[in-house]
Amino acid sequence: MDKLTLIQPDDWHLHVRNGAILKIVIAHTAQQFARAIIMPNLNPPVLTVDQALAYRSEIIKATPVDSGFTPLMTLYLTNSLTADEVKKAAESKFIHAIKLYPAGATTNSESGVSNLKGIYPILKIMEQVDLPLLIHGEVTNNDCDIFDREKVFVGSSLNDIVKHFPNLRIVLEHVTTKEAVDFVLSASNKVAATITPQHLMFNRNAILAGGIRPHHYCLPIIKREHHRQALVEAATSGNPKFFLGTDSAPHLTNAKENSCGCAGCYSAYGAIELYTAVFDQVDALDKLEGFASCYGPDFYQLPRNTKTITLQKQSWTVPSSYQVDNETITPLKANEILNWKLIN
Ligand code: NCD
Ligand code: ZN
Repeated sequence: MDKLTLIQPDDWHLHVRNGAILKIVIAHTAQQFARAIIMPNLNPPVLTVDQALAYRSEIIKATPVDSGFTPLMTLYLTNSLTADEVKKAAESKFIHAIKLYPAGATTNSESGVSNLKGIYPILKIMEQVDLPLLIHGEVTNNDCDIFDREKVFVGSSLNDIVKHFPNLRIVLEHVTTKEAVDFVLSASNKVAATITPQHLMFNRNAILAGGIRPHHYCLPIIKREHHRQALVEAATSGNPKFFLGTDSAPHLTNAKENSCGCAGCYSAYGAIELYTAVFDQVDALDKLEGFASCYGPDFYQLPRNTKTITLQKQSWTVPSSYQVDNETITPLKANEILNWKLIN
């Protein structure tokens, strides 16, 4: 097969930032995706419905006209989120979820939740109003090895949340381990997961073997090969619990190529091409449309898109960087050859 037509996909986990970066990254996303769940971890974070609506306007203003792209907004869960704000979010047709960052887990998560039990009353309301909870699933204690942080969170905090709130819709974001995949598989159909292109393509050697490669550093950190294999198996299985979420998270090149580099991979420039290559490699192109275009909207209770996109098997070279004012963003797989190209 050298041409593939799919229902237009959506990205169920995306960072677009604000200001100058927003304009370039939103154009990349809007070329491929019809909709995206927009992460609220700005600095300062998006805490209220009004702030989310203002951010939404800023995104729409920066989006190329006629792209048809729709941002799906989220709120950032803190210890001070109120029940009224949750209800207001549930009533807004623009807010689709609330994002839980354990405090200190990742970029701009300082205002996240430090005591999970403390937010259980809020989770109860989210369960009642049927507003999905998106979880960055890592423990943050420094005595936990960074490669174990997801596994430990899943076995402890996530397990407890799922038990207490059996009707709460939960997306375990950017799963990176076999343990997380197994947990999602064994949970009810209220629990789903997104998977990024980098966690499908790489194991941890890609960060550390033969030199440190900061553009492969993201959180949760990329794990061992057997975890990557479990993720590929889940993504290509046709199980609707697993769907596309790039976690494309742009940082300026000099913030990544630094003695203390930022976490996040920039994949929005060619995300669907990256996923297509992974599915092709394991001979599962017939499973791509479900993963990229169907299971996400089904879980979020939104209609599937009606337009289509077409990809062609054709080599092209990823640019070395994208310009943002006087700075650059270095894309995932910079200067490397991809063998699928979006043609319309
Ligand atoms: C994200 C970012 O930079 O905002 N970074 C990342 O490594 N994925 C935050 C996140 O989703 O963890
Ligand atoms: Zn993210």
